[in-house]
Amino acid sequence: MSSRSLPEEKSWKLSDINYSVPKHGERFGYTLGGVVLAGFILLIITGIIMAFFYMPTIDDARTSVLKLGSVPFGLWLRSFHRWTAEAVVFIMILHLSRVIFTGSYRGNRKLNWILGVILVFITVGFFFTGTILKWDQEGYEAFEHAVETFEVIPLVGSFFASFLRGSFAVMRIYATHTLVLPIVLGLFLLPHLILMKINGLSQLPGKISKQTSTFFKHMKMVLLFSVIIYALIGFLAAQFPAELYPGPYGGVEMTKPPWLFLVLYALEDWIGLYALLAAPLVLLIGLLAIPYIDRSPSLNSTARKVIVWGYIFLSAVFIFLIIYVGVSPPVEHLAM
Ligand code: HEM
Repeated sequence: MSSRSLPEEKSWKLSDINYSVPKHGERFGYTLGGVVLAGFILLIITGIIMAFFYMPTIDDARTSVLKLGSVPFGLWLRSFHRWTAEAVVFIMILHLSRVIFTGSYRGNRKLNWILGVILVFITVGFFFTGTILKWDQEGYEAFEHAVETFEVIPLVGSFFASFLRGSFAVMRIYATHTLVLPIVLGLFLLPHLILMKINGLSQLPGKISKQTSTFFKHMKMVLLFSVIIYALIGFLAAQFPAELYPGPYGGVEMTKPPWLFLVLYALEDWIGLYALLAAPLVLLIGLLAIPYIDRSPSLNSTARKVIVWGYIFLSAVFIFLIIYVGVSPPVEHLAM
């Protein structure tokens, strides 16, 4: 490393882009946000290509997805898009977990945490609307769940439910997936990355490491891990093509949602439709409250222990429910 000290991360000059970051910025755990970002870029590229073959109408949506299978690399492209979406959600959960375990949500990183929590719901929104766009039995049942959930929201719910129903149903979900959500993602992700540069990467928990590395080296590791992960996804996409169910058939409910919605599915089973509203709201408030519950600078405070062990316990419950519902037979929930 040359003796010339590296530019501080506070400088916004292009010439200072290769600013110094802590050495641990090269570790896998500290590149996860970047790997999620790389996944989003791949989803946008593969999504744009698929848009040239997709018909966003109730009559033609599923057929156009089926026909994509006869386009060279069409089925691989769709499967890569699907499995990358699954990977992005999973790696984002790992990123969030890393931030919790290193306590990187406190102090001047509180706002970045809050932006991050909102990014969770935007990302899940992408996944949910993407599932509907196939307009097969799984997509149709997801759509019906969305409409029936809107219907129980007081005052505005019935407006949104009727806005979604009817011949524009698929077109409106398509506009949400390809226009509204990308704009909202940009609006929250850009400040997330800017704040990341302003605050710099957090120190290792309980340590002040003097060792430094560079932003370029951090990005090289982000790239390396992204290439390994998404190349693996590319291989899996060729081996395990994404499913396209028959249908849609009204009046029957025979599919279960993808893994990230199985906890909601279980709660809907036990509590009913209101669970689809209440559970995300409780999760949102719980996540947003974390930096306000744990304000102490110490890493050994009771509040911190409650956060970490509470998170581990909740994760264990979620994993148990995902497995339990995953192996259980589908259940009829909706009034369709
Ligand atoms: C669309 C999803 C997301 C993207 C693309 C993203 C991107 C990033 C990137 C590139 C970093 C720099 C460090 C790294 O690469 O790991 C970062 C840091 C951070 N992210 Fe995210 N993030 C996302 C979601 C989240 C979520 C869900 C949370 C928490 C709820 C979160 C909270 C944070 C915090 C607090 C930092 C600062 C960490 C530190 O200084 O050590 N992010 N994010």
